[in-house]
Amino acid sequence: METGLKGWEAEAWRRQQVGSGGRGSEESATAVVAEPSLDGQGKSEARASASRIRMVSIPEYYEGKNVLLTGATGFLGKVLLEKLLRSCPKVNSVYVLVRQKAGQTPQERVEEVISGKLFDRLRDENPDFREKIIAINSELTQPTLALSEEDKEVIIDSTNIIFHCAATVRFNENLRDAVQLNVIATRQLILLAQQMKNLEVFMHVSTAYAYCNRKHIDEVVYPPPVDPKKLIDSLEWMDDGLVNDITPKLIGDRPNTYIYTKALAEYVVQQEGAKLNVAIVRPSIVGASWKEPFPGWIDNFNGPSGLFIAAGKGILRTMRASNNALADLVPVDIVVNTSLAAAWYSGVNRPRNIMVYNCTTGSTNPFHWGEVVSTVIRIWKEEQKERSYRER
Ligand SMILES: NC(=O)c1ccc[n+]([C@@H]2O[C@H](COP(=O)([O-])OP(=O)(O)OC[C@H]3O[C@@H](n4cnc5c(N)ncnc54)[C@H](OP(=O)(O)O)[C@@H]3O)[C@@H](O)[C@H]2O)c1
Repeated sequence: METGLKGWEAEAWRRQQVGSGGRGSEESATAVVAEPSLDGQGKSEARASASRIRMVSIPEYYEGKNVLLTGATGFLGKVLLEKLLRSCPKVNSVYVLVRQKAGQTPQERVEEVISGKLFDRLRDENPDFREKIIAINSELTQPTLALSEEDKEVIIDSTNIIFHCAATVRFNENLRDAVQLNVIATRQLILLAQQMKNLEVFMHVSTAYAYCNRKHIDEVVYPPPVDPKKLIDSLEWMDDGLVNDITPKLIGDRPNTYIYTKALAEYVVQQEGAKLNVAIVRPSIVGASWKEPFPGWIDNFNGPSGLFIAAGKGILRTMRASNNALADLVPVDIVVNTSLAAAWYSGVNRPRNIMVYNCTTGSTNPFHWGEVVSTVIRIWKEEQKERSYRER
């Protein structure tokens, strides 16, 4: 296959295709488990054995599993938590790594999350879901993720699947803090994962923009802009002034420290997680839910959501943009479904290669900014007129 890559990039890509150790040796297209059959016993037995091949459904895969989730108090994390518990009700437990914040304990914070409207449907369908959520105090920027010895032991003994959603998503985060959370904490979680006795899948949530400096982005991990280890070492001796001075040079043709550190994190996951069964999901711009748990759920003003509200309220009346540019918005429930399904796929098939999923609309199902404008205005006019501050 023609990749368009040259030199060291081509070599990195090739190595990825050849695969790394520690995983199963065969990759198949569907998640199937073949019940034992005898070789060389003729076609009829082959047919009989084929009929015994059984799909392991996603809920079946999660049945009895212990899942560890970071970022459960964030936008994506809480939707993932809800969907997992609702659609896979036989999951054994979900360890959520949450820090103390604003005088609230991790338990209180989780209680607040699951008391929200997002969890109404789950409360209706499966009122006992609370018992499955185990809040674990963890500040990801601290050494060993600030886990107590007891919690660490439990996690190491029982975790089967990890979803790493936590990150700083602030575009203007200073480089030191962005590296600390997005790169170093990710590495620490991988090191912890390596000690886990029953880990099946490490699912890392990245962003479709990690390589936005490229014209074409395949579902592979590309070489990083800098060796993360060297950057981490340098940040140790540099003062903040110096770090801020060199940040524009370091991030180069990437627009901000968020994107830059997410690219580094992917490389860390690929390299340090070489012996784990790793998958990466790369969403583009995550927006309100399409269908689940109900249409239109969102709880933040980040990114375009803030623009839509401002436009609907009549505050935002003009915006400089190209009507033909892709607004690569993807509903949060699609991202969550992709992540849960991707972990299932890797868990069942044990693919030889790291699996990467670009979770975007791209040119397959494009939604352009021009359409965004007309859609947002139409919806607000139809449904929310009385709630706007002034006529649009
Ligand atoms: N939203 C998007 O449009 C989008 C697009 C592409 C990719 N992504 C990726 O999706 C993932 C989730 O993003 P999001 O939009 O859900 O972000 P978010 O709403 O800002 O949530 C971030 C989560 O990370 C946690 N976190 C931050 N610092 C922490 C720390 N020091 N220790 C422990 N937890 C910490 C936050 O916990 P606190 O509540 O304690 O702060 C929160 O739960 C990220 O990896 C992001 O890169 C998001």
